Amino acid sequence: MALPTIGLSACSEDSVAPLDPDNSDPTDTDPTVAPTPLPIPEMLVASTFNLEMRPGTREFLTDKTTPTKGYNGDYLGPTLFLRTGSAVTLNVTNNIGVNTTTHWHGMHLPAVMDGGPHQPIAPGALWTASFPVLNRASTYWYHPHHHAPVGQGVIFDPTSTGYQVYEGLAGMIIVEDDVSDALPLPRTYGVDDIPLIIQDRRFHDDGALLHFPTNFNPATDPALRKGGNFLVNGVEAAVLEVGAQVVRLRILNASNARIYNFGFSDNRTFHQVASDGGFLRAPVPLSRRMLAPAERAEILVDFGSDQGTTLMLRSFNGGMSNSLVPPPLQDTWDTADFDLLEISVGAARSNPVTTIPAGLTTVEAIPDSEAVNLGSARPFELNANPFGINGLRMNINVINETIRLGDTEVWEITNPSTQAHPFHVHGDSFQILTRDGFPPPENELGWKDVVLVRPRETVRIVKRFLDYSDSTNPYMFHCHILEHEDVGMMGQWVVEAGAQ
Ligand code: C2O
Ligand code: CU
Ligand code: CU
Repeated sequence: MALPTIGLSACSEDSVAPLDPDNSDPTDTDPTVAPTPLPIPEMLVASTFNLEMRPGTREFLTDKTTPTKGYNGDYLGPTLFLRTGSAVTLNVTNNIGVNTTTHWHGMHLPAVMDGGPHQPIAPGALWTASFPVLNRASTYWYHPHHHAPVGQGVIFDPTSTGYQVYEGLAGMIIVEDDVSDALPLPRTYGVDDIPLIIQDRRFHDDGALLHFPTNFNPATDPALRKGGNFLVNGVEAAVLEVGAQVVRLRILNASNARIYNFGFSDNRTFHQVASDGGFLRAPVPLSRRMLAPAERAEILVDFGSDQGTTLMLRSFNGGMSNSLVPPPLQDTWDTADFDLLEISVGAARSNPVTTIPAGLTTVEAIPDSEAVNLGSARPFELNANPFGINGLRMNINVINETIRLGDTEVWEITNPSTQAHPFHVHGDSFQILTRDGFPPPENELGWKDVVLVRPRETVRIVKRFLDYSDSTNPYMFHCHILEHEDVGMMGQWVVEAGAQ
């Protein structure tokens, strides 16, 4: 029983204007290309959602057709609105012709509903997930998570996670609860509360998605899907029109492998209000916010005195990246500043939010004394040569870690490699205790489900394992650079009930 859907697209996704294929110069803008309004993914408000994974096409480049995949459409998918405390049912139909899954990234749910590698959906099949919504208000997302056999060629396998996300299969989930209801934040979806799904792509001359460079040599070239065509909500060089007021941007880095260092072209201060899994204690003023693959940040931007002006949402990767992406793995945009989205400020809309709140919510810091293993944290070593975790490649028949229901644990993630890895844990949000022994910055002192672990860094996180146990169906932990995940930088854990 689906409730009515609410279409709030700023423009029809069918009428996307041609884009400039010449993106070789990061600062180049072609005045002959008509600006495309930023499309806003359709918002679905329901207790039962029907999602169809299907093939489609898009014209990303002028007069060129790109075969794509999407949920209920050609590329990306609708934004799902969930309400904490309610029950949700998600029906996913696989019409993409190959095996896949759909994972609810960041959601706290039974392992068998997680949509990971153990819940494959065969071509033509319908898979149903249902669970109570227990998460805090925040921005989550969904994407395929199928595990292709690890080995030569896995990165080219059309059933691998990296392949399917790159084709366009991803969408946003917004959870609202009593806390978010009570806050004086912008909340009109598509008007002053804007989803921004950030992705980079590259294309063949004929318009097809180019997964790896034409002369790609797996032995010597970085096996990462990165490109110089930057899409926001599936469109390159789009324009977002906002009112002269406080606007909330929900930024999701849905790229396979790219790290962004977000800011604005005028270097203005903005305020981060939420991290992956919930609100921060108070808005944190920032002029840059780095997001690794799969991380989210909700930010407030005050455009109150900007009516009649335009500015750019930009990634300031210039000078950032030797520390995160070492030179052999860099491309042009790992060391360049480049624009993602033009923001055009018009008159304030009705009932605008005009101030940044002083505080948001209480975030109870999980006391590390609550952990059952404080003196001997569970170790996770991130290995890049060959890719793995704790010296092991993902083996779908091996459970790597067993945790007792009700326990709180400290996990210690070490990165002896020369590149940064975004470490993601399924099942529920965690908190970051320390980075190299020191507390993380204020905007990381909230709920997270992905943490970027820098080269040579040691990160300690604390996580509670509550509500669900299942000794056969595992959850995953992995690097969220999807090509790393696909080649085996992933492992499995179960929660067991009862004494051990
Ligand atoms: Cu975003 Cu294991 O996934
Ligand atoms: Cu996940
Ligand atoms: Cu990695």
